[in-house]
Amino acid sequence: MGKILVTGGAGYIGSHVVKALGEKGYDILVYDNLSTGHEWAVLHGDLVVGDIRDRGRLDQVLDKYEVDAVMHFAAHIVVPESVQEPLKYYMNNVGGSLTLLQALQEHGVDKFIFSSSAAVYGIPEEIPVRESAPLQAINPYGETKAMVEKVLEDMAYAGSMNYVALRYFNVAGADPEGRIGEGKEDATHLITMCVRTAAGLRPEMSIFGDDYPTSDGTCVRDYIHVEDLAEAHILALQYLLQNGESQVFNCGYGRGFSVLEVVEAARKATGVDFPVRMAPRREGDPPALVADSSKLQSHLGWRPQHDDLQHIIATAWNWETRGRTRE
Ligand code: UFG
Repeated sequence: MGKILVTGGAGYIGSHVVKALGEKGYDILVYDNLSTGHEWAVLHGDLVVGDIRDRGRLDQVLDKYEVDAVMHFAAHIVVPESVQEPLKYYMNNVGGSLTLLQALQEHGVDKFIFSSSAAVYGIPEEIPVRESAPLQAINPYGETKAMVEKVLEDMAYAGSMNYVALRYFNVAGADPEGRIGEGKEDATHLITMCVRTAAGLRPEMSIFGDDYPTSDGTCVRDYIHVEDLAEAHILALQYLLQNGESQVFNCGYGRGFSVLEVVEAARKATGVDFPVRMAPRREGDPPALVADSSKLQSHLGWRPQHDDLQHIIATAWNWETRGRTRE
């Protein structure tokens, strides 16, 4: 058995998947440029510091180690930043992925799990959204994920790669034991903002837009606990290692919460009535995104264990108030 190469394994989602892989006994090699990831987040396996755009570094790693499969998390992920700095996103998320895929192809590595995103759907016509819905991203971040999916689809057709693309909805929460969690000081995600405001790390937080066509006017999202998402990766890996054919899966729970509902749940979970203020819409935000994840359940046997907003927020709160290591 060779190694599982995990790009971006020192980041928020990657590190939780590395933890799950380690607990299952996989031999892990994390490849991360530490631009937003942290060495402390890598609980299992070895860490190689390298960039996905660095072909020479990738070749060194692939020459040295036998790699059975790759999980590719490394990417820029901030939607509004992608609107402001599109080239940064295309260079890293698309260019870097192509460099990685080319290196893998030349080294005969043909199993690939890709971190895709609900952002590929843009503003879906039907909610909950199924994998077969049209891909019509409304921001460069979502475009980069759709482009890499297309490349993978074409490579699979050509017989040079078997892949699973996992389209993440809104990933949140942390290791329930508080060893790892969101490590970025400048994180922008809603639940992180709520718990950091509750913890007094920020004076207040903003609600971006209350005039959307939703029940209370704020955006609706499908929040999935990072540990359930990690389990989806383990199942996808087992599937590919058993020579499963290429597939795309939504990863979410299939029900949405508005920003106001999340704020209320966070006030309850933290016991802090933290201040919020109404602010204008944030560029690139779709009104509602909720997954139909029945395919993940039926094809891979995924059974979520943490489908509870209070619990998701409580694990994030535990991390921020007790676990978090600040640099
Ligand atoms: N929001 C606020 N205030 C904040 C932070 C967020 O009101 O301080 C709102 C956003 O405007 C949005 C919702 O909360 O309506 C969720 O925002 P997040 O930043 O937590 O997450 P996004 O939905 O923007 O992004 C997530 C992932 C992306 C993925 C996207 C799919 O982080 O990688 O879902 O649209 F692309």
